[in-house]
Amino acid sequence: MPTLPNNPHLPFGDQRNAPWYGKDILSVSQFTREDLEYIFAVAHEMRIMVERVGTFDLLKGKILANLFYEPSTRTSSSFTSAMERLGGSVIPINEVRYSSVTKGESLPDTVRTLDCYADVIVLRHPEVGSAALAAKYARKPVINAGDGIGEHPTQALLDAFTIKEELGHIDGLTVTMLGDLKYGRTVHSLARLLSLYKVKIHYVSPEILRMPPEIIEELQRKGIEQTEHTRLEEVLPETDVLYVTRVQKERFEDPAVYESVKDAYVITPEVMKAAKQRMIVMHPLPRVYEISMDFDDDPRAAYFRQMEYGLYVRMALLAMVLGKA
Ligand code: ASP
Ligand code: CP
Repeated sequence: MPTLPNNPHLPFGDQRNAPWYGKDILSVSQFTREDLEYIFAVAHEMRIMVERVGTFDLLKGKILANLFYEPSTRTSSSFTSAMERLGGSVIPINEVRYSSVTKGESLPDTVRTLDCYADVIVLRHPEVGSAALAAKYARKPVINAGDGIGEHPTQALLDAFTIKEELGHIDGLTVTMLGDLKYGRTVHSLARLLSLYKVKIHYVSPEILRMPPEIIEELQRKGIEQTEHTRLEEVLPETDVLYVTRVQKERFEDPAVYESVKDAYVITPEVMKAAKQRMIVMHPLPRVYEISMDFDDDPRAAYFRQMEYGLYVRMALLAMVLGKA
């Protein structure tokens, strides 16, 4: 079961023999298919417990540091909710402007500081590789909550869990990723994670926002069937999971280029007439223009349910790295 390298700097007093105890979660490349089955099983248990009792004391006395150098609503608040539903507490640094980062403190020193006060650190940062850097300086587990245009592994785990809960299985599905595939870290992580299954992936994007070639090549080596398109109509009728993304405005150097692609695709009830009746539309959120609110009441719109699944997956991950699952 354990596949991740052991963190050599573990605090005392926990179940050191639990398979995930003390481990960092930095990239989806760390996971095997068996790991995913385990995480999904724990997340499913968490869902049942939240529905039954709401809050319980599995992580009583544990402290999470939420360190966010970039804006967040879902990731930050779902980790807070996850920790508090498990009886633990949270140090929120959701606006680093008001922390000593503004005085020029480095990421390693900020992480060393939180390491003294917390049992686990969740980090979102604009630079690729920042979570791995933080993990080098932290004795406690570091969870990557998004490192620039790199990865967003906990999002991909909750995305895969959503597919499993909504459609019952992942093998055999056709997944279409739509929008900003160049800068969208969620699709980078999700494509890699889905390569553990037998899926077909279509990438639909404006020419300048195509999926990075190194990710396509990585999946090719694993034998995943992939195709690239600029027109959604070409693949929508055969799609089981339509994964829509926001054009990542904050990553563009030239605002005119952003303006030229921001409305490239808009999902509306009209557009969705061409899709199957049994399929789902996902989105990591926040959405801006790319899904019309008129579509929200369609049963295929899974993006709000997806947010809720995020709570259960993050509860599972916290329990696992703190040695309680
Ligand atoms: N919330 C997701 C992320 O932080 C997706 C997005 O912002 O568009 O990557
Ligand atoms: N999906 C996601 O990461 O949302 P936030 O940016 O609001 O955390």
